[in-house]
Amino acid sequence: MSERMAVPLPKAYLLLNHGPTVLVSSAHGDRRNVMAAAWNMALDFDPPKVAVVIDKSTLTRELVEASGEFVLNVPARKIAALTLAVGSESGRGIDKLLKVMQSGIHSDGAGTTAGGVVTAPLIDGCLAWLECRVIPEPHTQKTYDLFLGEVVAAWADPEVFSTGRWHFPDAERRSIHYISGGSFFATGDEFSV
Ligand SMILES: Cc1cc2nc3c(=O)[nH]c(=O)nc-3n(C[C@H](O)[C@H](O)[C@H](O)COP(=O)(O)O)c2cc1C
Repeated sequence: MSERMAVPLPKAYLLLNHGPTVLVSSAHGDRRNVMAAAWNMALDFDPPKVAVVIDKSTLTRELVEASGEFVLNVPARKIAALTLAVGSESGRGIDKLLKVMQSGIHSDGAGTTAGGVVTAPLIDGCLAWLECRVIPEPHTQKTYDLFLGEVVAAWADPEVFSTGRWHFPDAERRSIHYISGGSFFATGDEFSV
């Protein structure tokens, strides 16, 4: 289980401001799932809102529409292979989290922790987590596959994000940015101007 501390909601946008690829976790009834999403962004400060593209073909879409909830998990470099794996296969018919755990694709597996507010799980091995409730915009969802969410709880690993700042302690605990074809950038060094 990853260590996590609550992030004040007006600071939740900082978890996405630098544009990391995320894992979207979802749950409805006895089903749960996770997929990768590069097309996401912060949308507002307070109350904090996010936007994420969730394609019509995905199981995630079905679970998010049914539950009205999702979690944006910010994966670390050390689970980049997991991120690619859950973004390359649909969870229809399989429990992707279980499969990834059993495949040993990463020693951290894909354990989960219960969220504080929503029922979708928080994925272990991530740096930050944003629990979201869908803000229903049926036209935008149907036409652009774009989902808006209000962040109702936000968490971060305090070794990586605290007092409103990222401070990546090592190469494995950096956020990642998807290019394509299985390649990513890791978040680089901070500089100020
Ligand atoms: C790194 C990465 C980023 C992705 N970004 C998105 C995205 O922003 N939106 C989306 O709909 N699909 C995206 N995908 C594809 C989904 O993750 C993929 O279709 C996934 O298998 C859906 O899983 P599901 O059917 O279990 O929900 C991405 C895939 C990868 C590997």
